[in-house]
Amino acid sequence: MDLQIAGKTALVTGASRGIGFAIAEGLVAEGARVVIAARTQAALDSAAERLGEGGGEVFAVAADVSSAKGVLKLVATAREHVGVIDILVANAGGPPAGASSAVDDASWARASELTLMSAVRLSRAVLAEMRERGWGRIVNVTSLAVKQPVAELTLSNVMRSAVTAFARTLANEVADSGVTVNNVAPGYTATGRIEQLFSDDYARARLVASIPAKRFGEPREIAAAALYLCSQQAAYVTGQTLVVDGGMVASTY
Ligand SMILES: NC(=O)c1ccc[n+]([C@@H]2O[C@H](COP(=O)([O-])OP(=O)(O)OC[C@H]3O[C@@H](n4cnc5c(N)ncnc54)[C@H](OP(=O)(O)O)[C@@H]3O)[C@@H](O)[C@H]2O)c1
Repeated sequence: MDLQIAGKTALVTGASRGIGFAIAEGLVAEGARVVIAARTQAALDSAAERLGEGGGEVFAVAADVSSAKGVLKLVATAREHVGVIDILVANAGGPPAGASSAVDDASWARASELTLMSAVRLSRAVLAEMRERGWGRIVNVTSLAVKQPVAELTLSNVMRSAVTAFARTLANEVADSGVTVNNVAPGYTATGRIEQLFSDDYARARLVASIPAKRFGEPREIAAAALYLCSQQAAYVTGQTLVVDGGMVASTY
């Protein structure tokens, strides 16, 4: 299906690898002009090179989205490359694991900057122009934890729920201007993040056994859901969370 976003501009953060990379890859394949961001320049340059192999327009901008300054500089540089941003995919690494009793105030503050405030600031930086043009797509990458908190992932559980509430609030504020705001919530997906959280084979095997689909998701499967939310066809879908988890969240709604 043609998602009707050829020629649109997109900014995808956290896109040097994993889910963000797969989303950028899908956007490039649809003919969007894409700016990718992450902190590590070398990995980002290599990602941009791979993404541009088919002739697509891809620009790499190194930035740390956990700071206000980093977001402002990123969006300003992205505009220099592609002009006004039509599609924002707000993504980054997840906050560290830890039971609630083990999380101190400084960790709460860092997680808020990384996960909640990055989404807030990125949206704020692109929204006025989207509204003026009467078209925009904002997609936040969250987690199945918004439906079903994961043990030991206190910061992720809380901050991603906050992003979801923010997106829901923002979606209705801008719904009459052609801008949609949604979230894609991955389940366990085969990326570096999973390697980092479940480093031993036994723990990984137990985790896979607990997933109804009996396997991890692939980044491109999460990307497919995000791409739908970026599409013209999804113009009437806003404020929603699309969970892509192989059946892991067991609730009816
Ligand atoms: N994989 C899963 O099973 C899973 C499940 C549920 C939710 N999620 C969430 O989905 C998101 C993407 O997951 P993933 O597995 O693709 O992660 P990943 O493989 O660790 O990739 C994270 C990406 O974000 C970039 N990044 C990290 N911190 C950043 C920052 N402060 N500013 C800018 N870029 C930053 C990384 O590059 P640099 O390090 O160079 O900056 C990298 O490009 C994460 O938030 C994760 O928690 C993942």
